[in-house]
Amino acid sequence: MLTGKRILLILSGGIAAFKCHDLIRRLRERGASVRCVLTPAAARFVTPLSLQALSEDKVYSDLFSLTDESEMGHINLSREADLLVVAPASANILARMAQGLADDLATTVLLATDKAVLVAPAMNVRMWLHPATRANVATLRSRGVAFVGPNEGAMACNEFGPGRMSEPLEIVAAIEAYFTGRLPAAEPPPLISGPSVIRMPPEPMGGAIAHRPLMSRRAIVTSGPTREAIDPVRYISNHSSGKQGHAIAGALAALGAEVTLVTGPVGVADPAGVKVVRVESADDMLAACRAALPADIVVCAAAVADWKVRNAANGKLKKVPGAAPPALELVPNPDILASLAASGPQRPALVVGFAAETENVVANAVAKRERKGCDWIVANDVSPATGTFGGDRNTVHLVTASGVEAWPTLAKDAVAEELARRVVRHFGTSGVVAAS
Ligand SMILES: Cc1cc2nc3c(=O)[nH]c(=O)nc-3n(C[C@H](O)[C@H](O)[C@H](O)COP(=O)(O)O)c2cc1C
Repeated sequence: MLTGKRILLILSGGIAAFKCHDLIRRLRERGASVRCVLTPAAARFVTPLSLQALSEDKVYSDLFSLTDESEMGHINLSREADLLVVAPASANILARMAQGLADDLATTVLLATDKAVLVAPAMNVRMWLHPATRANVATLRSRGVAFVGPNEGAMACNEFGPGRMSEPLEIVAAIEAYFTGRLPAAEPPPLISGPSVIRMPPEPMGGAIAHRPLMSRRAIVTSGPTREAIDPVRYISNHSSGKQGHAIAGALAALGAEVTLVTGPVGVADPAGVKVVRVESADDMLAACRAALPADIVVCAAAVADWKVRNAANGKLKKVPGAAPPALELVPNPDILASLAASGPQRPALVVGFAAETENVVANAVAKRERKGCDWIVANDVSPATGTFGGDRNTVHLVTASGVEAWPTLAKDAVAEELARRVVRHFGTSGVVAAS
């Protein structure tokens, strides 16, 4: 979709500049070419050398460079691009763009361009919510500048709220949307979707404000496949890798939740900061989940085998020459999601299930939410062509009581982080203070 497209990537000075390495890689693997312009501040966060190596093009930063100006020139930088992307966009560069300043190469190119501009802001939550930034964003929007993000989340500055730069794949999706005419030029960037600024509760040992909005919450996450024994050496299972469930456990833990990860046999590493309980069968998984109750949140991301072998053998089944192969009698496994979602004193406040479907993904997920009695269903298409099972990316729909949301294709880590942000929003957070 991006084959032959020329992206002029303008980096300004913020911690999120490091994400541009991945952004360049993602754009180039889709066939786009990327040329980078840095503000002097951006060059304090990433090196021109790394950007040059990844983009395989010269990196520009000096407005008054005799060689650059004679070879390319600030006007040509914009002429030779199909789209200008400012990522990360600092509060400072937004202000300079809104004012029409041209005091370095980046802003001179931005003022001289007649090409579309897409901006991915990245800054501290208070900088994003400051009336000056709000006014600058409104000015830029009114001039047709498009925005992607920022996202809400934990920030490097130990606060939580809107201001995190969109993930590289979200920026790629916005760029693709621009080239297919699906990106409304003046779409309002999300300001905030809940409380204005969330001040985090202190760390248990006192001291600095932490970015842990789920700190008082207990979560159970299931992940991976289950194995249903045929005999002591053979089993029935599926291709689930555990990548998505493990990423969710890690994302909830990163936001402060006390997470028990109940996992079938997988090859992925344990996420940091979670308690891991390893199981094999669906019966074991249900027992481990029950043992981990009470919890506020349950996310059932495991691909639990629907059936188990009723007549599993205690010893290894032998091949007998001339004899018929053994007949396996299957019986249903316990329904872990429905069982945890059933009302009762121990029902977690938020029960999230996954629906792995190969057809009618949304319709089946909507029906599953009703049938299982859970609050949300994350529906994904696992037909082989999607590469979801075992792959690093996922295209999901979030089905809730209020409707169905189609999410763009994201890295499984990004799906996990977004789901964790939704969990934070669902519970709200104490200690809310008004926006400055
Ligand atoms: C460690 C560090 C991190 C920073 N992160 C951000 C940031 O994420 N967003 C932002 O708007 N400014 C950030 N700043 C401040 C900018 O770098 C500063 O405003 C700079 O003047 C921006 O210049 P530029 O917009 O020309 O790149 C940071 C500064 C430092 C020292």
